[in-house]
Amino acid sequence: MEAKIIAIVNHKGGVGKTTTAVNLTASLATFEKKVLLVDLDPQANATSHFDVNAEEGNNIYLSIRGDLKELPIVKLNDCLDLVPSSLDLSAAEIEITSKISRETILHKLIKPLRSKYDYIIIDCPPSLGLLTINALATSQKTIIPVDFGTFAVIGMAKLIDIIQAVKENINDDLSENCILLTKYDPRMNMHKDMLSSIRETLEERTFDTIIRTNIALNEAAYNNKPIVEYSPQSNGAIDYLKLAEEIINTKF
Ligand SMILES: Nc1ncnc2c1ncn2[C@@H]1O[C@H](COP(=O)(O)OP(=O)(O)OP(=O)(O)O)[C@@H](O)[C@H]1O
Ligand SMILES: [Mg+2]
Repeated sequence: MEAKIIAIVNHKGGVGKTTTAVNLTASLATFEKKVLLVDLDPQANATSHFDVNAEEGNNIYLSIRGDLKELPIVKLNDCLDLVPSSLDLSAAEIEITSKISRETILHKLIKPLRSKYDYIIIDCPPSLGLLTINALATSQKTIIPVDFGTFAVIGMAKLIDIIQAVKENINDDLSENCILLTKYDPRMNMHKDMLSSIRETLEERTFDTIIRTNIALNEAAYNNKPIVEYSPQSNGAIDYLKLAEEIINTKF
């Protein structure tokens, strides 16, 4: 077994990266896939979403800057592990700028873990800086959440360019990007119109699964639980379980 490594990436903030990272990870685990979630965002939202408090000594910052030789892993259940983040990580981006091979620090840390998992999911910060480049440099696939509330498609070309540059220069295993449409409200005509125009105009593949706007997803985050645990009957749980199935079945 060699884990498939997937980066959840979009430099635009608030599009549903962390919601997707947390709930996709928890959904894959319900299908008994072994999953590791790597929180690579200094905001540490995924870490708190799982109710983990990264104390000193057990967060990814120490591994990225080289103080720890391994990634610190917190076991959440039989199938689900987390590498926690903390606010300190915001300093790492500057501290590693002068390091040789600064783009592949995460790749080296993840390599020995690949045989232990089916999927490794990386939650990226809302920027195209060195942390995001590190995520792209070790991934085979990217999921790009795009939300209906904004014109998030604008600015996508820049992201696709960066992914392409990483593929050409650092990581030729990076084989596929797939857009995940989030915060969809089928009652809004504007969203319905946008859906057809997005599907016609975008060159990138989009998932068949669309994540609907669902307040239970906010509440689940607030209550520090993944949606499959917090409200298993909600649309949010249904959509993220469907996404997990699509990923498993299409061998994405
Ligand atoms: N499908 C949804 N329905 C309702 N609310 C949602 C949905 N997806 C995400 N949200 C809410 O939108 C907000 C932003 O989501 P999230 O934190 O996942 O975005 P992000 O891309 O990770 O943001 P950042 O760029 O700051 O890391 C959160 O409050 C989250 O609960
Ligand atoms: Mg986030």
